[in-house]
Amino acid sequence: MLGLKTSIIGRRVIYFQEITSTNEFAKTSYLEEGTVIVADKQTMGHGRLNRKWESPEGGLWLSIVLSPKVPQKDLPKIVFLGAVGVVETLKEFSIDGRIKWPNDVLVNYKKIAGVLVEGKGDKIVLGIGLNVNNKVPNGATSMKLELGSEVPLLSVFRSLITNLDRLYLNFLKNPMDILNLVRDNMILGVRVKILGDGSFEGIAEDIDDFGRLIIRLDSGEVKKVIYGDVSLRFL
Ligand code: ATP
Ligand code: BTN
Repeated sequence: MLGLKTSIIGRRVIYFQEITSTNEFAKTSYLEEGTVIVADKQTMGHGRLNRKWESPEGGLWLSIVLSPKVPQKDLPKIVFLGAVGVVETLKEFSIDGRIKWPNDVLVNYKKIAGVLVEGKGDKIVLGIGLNVNNKVPNGATSMKLELGSEVPLLSVFRSLITNLDRLYLNFLKNPMDILNLVRDNMILGVRVKILGDGSFEGIAEDIDDFGRLIIRLDSGEVKKVIYGDVSLRFL
């Protein structure tokens, strides 16, 4: 019915009108690799550290079950598949999205999408929230706000699944490739503040082979930040 021609991601799609959180469902159910859980609305959508993710009707809220056979060191790159997939889809709709390392996509510095990767055993759940026609929190944006008109949600869904499937297949063969796509589409060369266990400021210069953010402090010292419990703020 959906007419998806993907090989892994989207082999099976499970749709809900309403759900607590597609990530929770994906984590707690037995599902084959590539299964997509998608819902019109989530009552308990969340981001990192259990922060609330607003998920009213009109947006694209989905999770994908993955079990990639890649070296352990490459697993942190999965979050980038989500972010790059969103940027590619936005481009197809003439919207210029940029990645805010590691898991957000912004348009003119306003958040349009977030990615949340969670693991349970050897199952990895790639969750993506993309504001399409829905109401958004203050300071955020949506595809509808950017384009000035409603966007067909199903076309956005198809585009995103197709892009993610291609990125994932390539990731299984060449896990490093995704890094260049991230570099080309992320916000670099700007001043950022890292908040976490101790905070510091500097210029976001690049990402390394592990996907860590490289920051040059004013002293010239270089720090590498691991995606974990840190938050990044633009200054
Ligand atoms: P940061 O690095 O800025 O802390 P994050 O990507 O780690 O952000 P989370 O900590 O996971 O984000 O929490 C998600 C955040 O996204 C919430 O704090 C909220 O401010 C914001 N948010 C919630 N719903 C939406 C939405 N639909 N669109 C855009 N932003 C949202
Ligand atoms: C973030 O911005 O930090 C991540 C937000 C991730 C939201 C998506 S929506 C689908 C999936 N289900 C959830 O509860 N969260 C993710």
